[in-house]
Amino acid sequence: MAYYVTTPIYYVNAQPHLGHAYTTIAADIIARHMRQRGEEVFFLTGTDEHGEPVAQVAEREGIPPQQLADTNVEHFRNMVERVNISNDFFIRTTDDKHEAFVQQFMQRLYDKGILYEDDYEGWYCPNCADFKTDQELLKGNRCSIHLIVVERVKERNYFFPLSKYQEALEKLYAERPDWVVPKSRYNEALGFIKQGLNDVSVTRAKLRWGVPVPWDEEQVIYVWFDALLNYLSALTYARPDIDLTDEFWPADYHLIGKDILKFHAVIWPAMLLAAEIELPKHLFIHGYLLMQGEKMSKTLGNVLDPFEVIDVYGTDALRFYCFREVGFGQDGSISTEGFEARYNSELANEYGNLASRTIAMIGQFRDGVVPADADPPAELAESFAGLRDAVEARLGAAELTAALEEIWSRGVRRLNRYVEEQKPWELAKDAGNEGRLDQVLYGLAEGLRVITVLLHPYMPETTERLLNALGDGSGEAFALERAHFGTGAGGATVEKLPPLFPKVKAAESA
Ligand code: MSP
Repeated sequence: MAYYVTTPIYYVNAQPHLGHAYTTIAADIIARHMRQRGEEVFFLTGTDEHGEPVAQVAEREGIPPQQLADTNVEHFRNMVERVNISNDFFIRTTDDKHEAFVQQFMQRLYDKGILYEDDYEGWYCPNCADFKTDQELLKGNRCSIHLIVVERVKERNYFFPLSKYQEALEKLYAERPDWVVPKSRYNEALGFIKQGLNDVSVTRAKLRWGVPVPWDEEQVIYVWFDALLNYLSALTYARPDIDLTDEFWPADYHLIGKDILKFHAVIWPAMLLAAEIELPKHLFIHGYLLMQGEKMSKTLGNVLDPFEVIDVYGTDALRFYCFREVGFGQDGSISTEGFEARYNSELANEYGNLASRTIAMIGQFRDGVVPADADPPAELAESFAGLRDAVEARLGAAELTAALEEIWSRGVRRLNRYVEEQKPWELAKDAGNEGRLDQVLYGLAEGLRVITVLLHPYMPETTERLLNALGDGSGEAFALERAHFGTGAGGATVEKLPPLFPKVKAAESA
């Protein structure tokens, strides 16, 4: 089966920060999990390079926008690499083939008589690249997201008749209650629709940095119409000579932050309805990562540099922290202190230490060989029963934090308690306990293997090292069907493993 997951495409007007990495890692966890299921996955991310956000910064820096994009896209590619993203394609909206796709799409709407010409006058936030109604502004005509004073603009544009899609959109929401998740965002989007929709201007006369309107050289296409189409255009040219659209469209999940809900939950489906293209199956809207109570953003200047965290603690720790600390879907605060606390207590002590102890005890008491003929201990089998299904259900619904909590409470913490309950070092003192010790050690190795398979999408590198050390590094070792307690073979030879999450000295983390 085919599975298509996307991230927003990020503006190349500044350096990537943890907020961008966040959505990208989320999509990566889902993509990796779906591959574990044996799905044919297409995972798309990339950059949004046209429009005011980029043009303005380029102008300030005195360079052509394309040059700014070419420079900054490398930071985004680097971010993608550093956080170990397994994307299948990286789209840039300045790709020739994307631009041609956008022109064809808009021409089709124009030829069908859907777009119309009119004057536009209104408030415009260049950082949002979006028009604002009076109600959406803060006091002093400031943008509620960027807090900057917005501009009053007037120009002749082509319009998309969003108001005409009101009924169709309400029907969509009524028929597909899980089209936007979580429910609070579904309600927010539906509420917005029910307030009544205004038509949207889809071209810009003043701006030069954009995809030219094919039937009117004086105008460029509004950056949001250009950007949203990336989800479709990428499938047409990501692979030479193959159009992947039939295989992967409609997308299973578009993952986005709540700041761009309206574009994805209102405008995007209307665009697709107008073009008579099937709608994506789901949008998942996540919240903000907050620092000191505020949204992390380049305008506000309170960003946590993911690269600094990675330099000290490693990529996997960052990937884990983001989805452990803040419920995926909610807003939540992150901090260096919070990161260190989770790193030490959960990664180093609970998971890392469990792995080291288990391997060390198999080394010490069984010459490094996982006991072969032991029955899986019933008390562990019980805790693990249904764990894989639960994780599968959660991740199928993009509930990343809930899935992680299942693994942690039913897996990692259960195994730690099991060590304390069984005290293998005590059992080892009495030869009469031979069979029981076999069983306990097998249970620990097996439990550790199962949680490691389940944690693989979150922490790909660490889990690979650990499975190798458990003597199970085969190509299929991470298939989801292997995440079943009691299916692992005894008799594997374990290898000594340096700490998975070494203690970090205060000086390094300061
Ligand atoms: N270019 C548009 C998106 C077009 S999609 C067709 C855009 N780009 S952006 O660079 O501003 O990225 C916004 C996205 O970055 C958010 O939707 C979210 O996915 C992510 N985040 C940016 N800051 C964030 C936080 N502080 N917290 C969580 N996610 C954040 O909008």
